[in-house]
Amino acid sequence: MKSPIPDYLERVLENARPNDSGAPANYIETLANADTSKMAVALAMVDGQIYSAGDDKVEFSIQSISKAFVYAIAIEDSGLKRVLEKIGVEPSGDAFNKLSLERGSNRPMNPMINAGAITAHSLVAGPEATAKERTDRILEILSKLAGRQLQVDEEVYQAELRDADRNMGIGYMLKAAGVIHGDPREAVTGYIRQCSINVNVRDLAMMAATLCNAGIHPVTGESIIPQTSVRQVLSVMTTCGMYDAAGDWVSNIGIPAKSGVAGGIIGALPGQVGIATFSPKLDERGNSVRGVAICEQLSRDMGLHMM
Ligand code: DON
Repeated sequence: MKSPIPDYLERVLENARPNDSGAPANYIETLANADTSKMAVALAMVDGQIYSAGDDKVEFSIQSISKAFVYAIAIEDSGLKRVLEKIGVEPSGDAFNKLSLERGSNRPMNPMINAGAITAHSLVAGPEATAKERTDRILEILSKLAGRQLQVDEEVYQAELRDADRNMGIGYMLKAAGVIHGDPREAVTGYIRQCSINVNVRDLAMMAATLCNAGIHPVTGESIIPQTSVRQVLSVMTTCGMYDAAGDWVSNIGIPAKSGVAGGIIGALPGQVGIATFSPKLDERGNSVRGVAICEQLSRDMGLHMM
């Protein structure tokens, strides 16, 4: 469906296009070779209307945006109490892939950095689950949120596995600290597989809109995430979703959000709208340059800042 204001979303994209700064993620071969001219935006309303513009059918890997939803699944499967025993909720102010644990509690600081996300992945489908059961469950829930069957991009998955030393290091650190149990390589490969699920901006906008709609899918009406988990997810997205740019993001744009290294960003304004953008070139903090600019303009034009 077209935007209610003719060409509005197209104009927002064209405003962002001249900024050609940044670079695609270079540590995953497939992402390093991405077509950086691609750009898209989608808005999904809580009543199920969806508007999009640009390369809205182009698929890219969900990467770290998956962390928000897998955190919700971990809460569902292991309970909030256990999840909070294992993963904190404080912003780290560090890079997403830092090998770090919270001083005192010995937990990963939050579920949006890799240490917390690998832990959340390990808490999916309960303590007895096999690696396959965990990744199958994640793919199933993410597909329900998107409203269509999603697939893993095997090329992205294999490319990231070839260069997974740092995440493997995080996995072994978590095992040594007693945060995760079982084989850390399984938790890390499962986490990389979850990051390799392909989406387009329309999928992501609908997934974000489900968060905005208290966990109920705006089109299918299915209750996918309990409201208490949605509250938890949106809280950590607000404080930690944009990594060490979280403070700038909240003050400028004011929407709970999450970015991924393939160039996707989601924003979720409760009760109103789920936003998704795509453009592969990233700034030094790992967030899409044009994606941030698009979200800035949408927030300004539509008065989306939560304050
Ligand atoms: O752990 C990694 O390196 C990636 N698969 C996901 C990282 C990511 O998307 C960070 N986000 N900006």
